[in-house]
Amino acid sequence: MGSIDTPTITENGTTQSHTAAAAADGDQKPLASSNGAPAEMTLELEATKKRRASMLPLEVGTRVMCRWRDGKYHPVKVIERRKVHYGGPNDYEYYVHYTEFNRRLDEWVKLEQLDLDSVETVVDEKVEDKVTSLKMTRHQKRKIDETHVEVGHEELDAASLREHEEFTKVKNIATIELGRYEIETWYFSPFPPEYNDSLKLYFCEFCLNFMKRKEQLQRHMRKCDLKHPPGDEIYRSGTLSMFEVDGKKNKVYGQNLCYLAKLFLDHKTLYYDVDLFLFYVLCECDDRGCHMVGYFSKEKHSEESYNLACILTLPPYQRKGYGKFLIAFSYELSKKEGKVGTPERPLSDLGLLSYRGYWTRVLLDILKKHKGNISIKELSDMTAIKAEDILTTLQSLELIQYRKGQHVICADPKVLERHLKAAGRGGLEVDVSKLIWTPYKEQS
Ligand code: ACO
Ligand code: ZN
Repeated sequence: MGSIDTPTITENGTTQSHTAAAAADGDQKPLASSNGAPAEMTLELEATKKRRASMLPLEVGTRVMCRWRDGKYHPVKVIERRKVHYGGPNDYEYYVHYTEFNRRLDEWVKLEQLDLDSVETVVDEKVEDKVTSLKMTRHQKRKIDETHVEVGHEELDAASLREHEEFTKVKNIATIELGRYEIETWYFSPFPPEYNDSLKLYFCEFCLNFMKRKEQLQRHMRKCDLKHPPGDEIYRSGTLSMFEVDGKKNKVYGQNLCYLAKLFLDHKTLYYDVDLFLFYVLCECDDRGCHMVGYFSKEKHSEESYNLACILTLPPYQRKGYGKFLIAFSYELSKKEGKVGTPERPLSDLGLLSYRGYWTRVLLDILKKHKGNISIKELSDMTAIKAEDILTTLQSLELIQYRKGQHVICADPKVLERHLKAAGRGGLEVDVSKLIWTPYKEQS
């Protein structure tokens, strides 16, 4: 499967191609005539120059084509602008969202990267807002409401709320240092205001405290006595360990983890009460300690049968099978609880790909081996995957038919094999015999 960081998935299902060659045409036109150009041409160029200058600075909300790192021009929306230091009155940099790509690729660009001939002046925010609000689930809305309550915005009217949302659209922290890695961030995360002026943050890889300066981190590392996440080690197989951290017992760690995770999670609101969550932190261990690879969080009690709230593999560890390991682990916990589970919605693009891959592999492996009929309920009992997720997975693979008022699974071995091949690698296996865990019980 192709990398998602190239324009494979689009926001609106379109793939616009405005190639570098085509755009360069507009971009590289000389603005003034040189030695001996005909008079009309000079006039025309002057007019173009004037028209372009009259657009500047571009308004927030403007839609325009922008040259991306692939050298091609892609449609963007201007999210924010800022003055260039020591520049003229119209010298701005623009924070843009590439409408074809995921928001993690939003970035600051220079004016030279924008093709001013492609500027669209009509900005229809209202239509867009409507679409966004339709896409939001009830649960998500509730969470967003909670966010605003938590941050003390309960008095805000719709316009101010929109402004607040606009504010969070611009990435605040550009990079973080965590253990051996320097990592570029993907999204805004609401760190406390005193961190607002920092482009880079330094995290202690064990307690996840974060600091503005490297020397502070070095001083901290000399004092910090943690060498693994604070909690119970519930799984160890080879160099892989899983720790269960109770958000109530380790509030600061839970909050730090949420701040860190939000840098890579777009859809999730952060202002959860960490008390209500357990964090399952996956580590690669060596003689220096247990280094966090990723985690998932899980509500202690979920009315909606969610067995996972947020999942993250830190970028340096992505595409190595850890995500599928974490997903498999969440279902192993559900099996031990004797419940079916499902991830909290909405899923991100990468989240959906990982879940689809996991569900496909697990279900088709069973169908391949199973002789005779099998129902969705039976599949659900065997895997702890919620029936709806089984149905949508099998439907998307066109393995379900509706006969005489019933869903029937049609599993031709050749078709199964083809789908299994397409579902990619299995990921790292969870060895259930190495899981030592009892489900959470409230301690009074
Ligand atoms: N491009 C294309 N496919 C991808 C990509 C990518 N960049 N990343 C993952 N996939 C797909 C592939 O099918 C991959 O399987 P394959 O490598 O066998 O082809 C599959 O997803 C999972 O790969 P893993 O290596 O097991 O997963 P990874 O460790 O990369 O973690 C995760 C996946 C957790 C979703 C990671 O991408 C991540 O942390 N993303 C940022 C946070 C996020 O979006 N989390 C999910 C939010 S939804 C929720 O929390 C309920
Ligand atoms: Zn520390």
